[in-house]
Amino acid sequence: MRKLVLAASIAVLALAGPASAQAPIVIKFSHVVASDTPKGKAAEKFKELAEKYTDGKVKVEVYPNSTLYKDKEELEALQLGAVQMLAPSNSKFGPIGVREFEVFDLPYILPDLATLRKVTDGPLGAKLLKLLEPKGMTGLAYWDNGFKQMSANKKLVTPADYKGLKFRIQSSKVLEAQFRALGSIPQVMAFGEVYQALQTGVVDGQENTWSNIYTQKMHEVQKYATVTNHGYIGYVVVVNKKFWDGLPADIRGQLDKAMKEATAFGNGQSAKENDEALAEIKKSGKTEIITLTPEQDAAMRKAMDPVYKDVANRVGQPLIDEFIKETGGVSH
Ligand code: LMR
Repeated sequence: MRKLVLAASIAVLALAGPASAQAPIVIKFSHVVASDTPKGKAAEKFKELAEKYTDGKVKVEVYPNSTLYKDKEELEALQLGAVQMLAPSNSKFGPIGVREFEVFDLPYILPDLATLRKVTDGPLGAKLLKLLEPKGMTGLAYWDNGFKQMSANKKLVTPADYKGLKFRIQSSKVLEAQFRALGSIPQVMAFGEVYQALQTGVVDGQENTWSNIYTQKMHEVQKYATVTNHGYIGYVVVVNKKFWDGLPADIRGQLDKAMKEATAFGNGQSAKENDEALAEIKKSGKTEIITLTPEQDAAMRKAMDPVYKDVANRVGQPLIDEFIKETGGVSH
């Protein structure tokens, strides 16, 4: 009987031989937001297309909502090869020594997504991605989320309303300077910890896109949100460079195609998703949404303008100038 079982398993192994020699290449894709967000959906689309185009030779495992790693840890995990792919926001590359992506954080630097595309799809976008290579990462794409709004338990209408309030920020010195310009106290915190920090009063407010606010239920613990559109959150899809370079060329080509299509899909619907999230927040009745008059909006812009000078050394004035030139924007 034993012999039979042994023979049977050998037969099974022999049958499985060629297949097991080609066990799928696994891409662990870790991210910090909910699946039902612009980034979450683009990641799922990439998984679907990558597995389809490689005919199952690649398996993509998506881990959303900080289930594997929080912000800083996920970048370290990518560099170590514990995961293969991430899409951190532009604001999160400073701690690994690439501060240039913080240029995207400058207040009011982008009037709309079409203008953003001029940068990400142009030579500056490509140049920025190259900066990741010495850090062991290859930048594959820019994914959108959208424009940030302010929230707090206090009405935020004029710059003076921000004075003395504690705001959670992503790990970007530009964002730190932005809140300092408003007289607030910025506090760097991982995305996965924001809801609790707002709920317990560790911080008074935060800035984020409607889709992030809604899917993390921040609106349930913030009495007010102000439509400011003062900044942008977008992502750089990064892959471990050694892993990427070591892939067979045909597989890399198929993954590139999947990434291009997932990017077009995700970027094509991010604005709609943020609009829908805002509608849901309004429907919940838990947060009062404040809209600014043109005069109030102008006062916010003026209050944040000194940030450009404050961070010129960190981000690099030539980079700021190049960015503004590509967007056709106004110099500060
Ligand atoms: C944040 O930390 O607020 C965002 O970058 C989260 C995200 O990935 O959208």
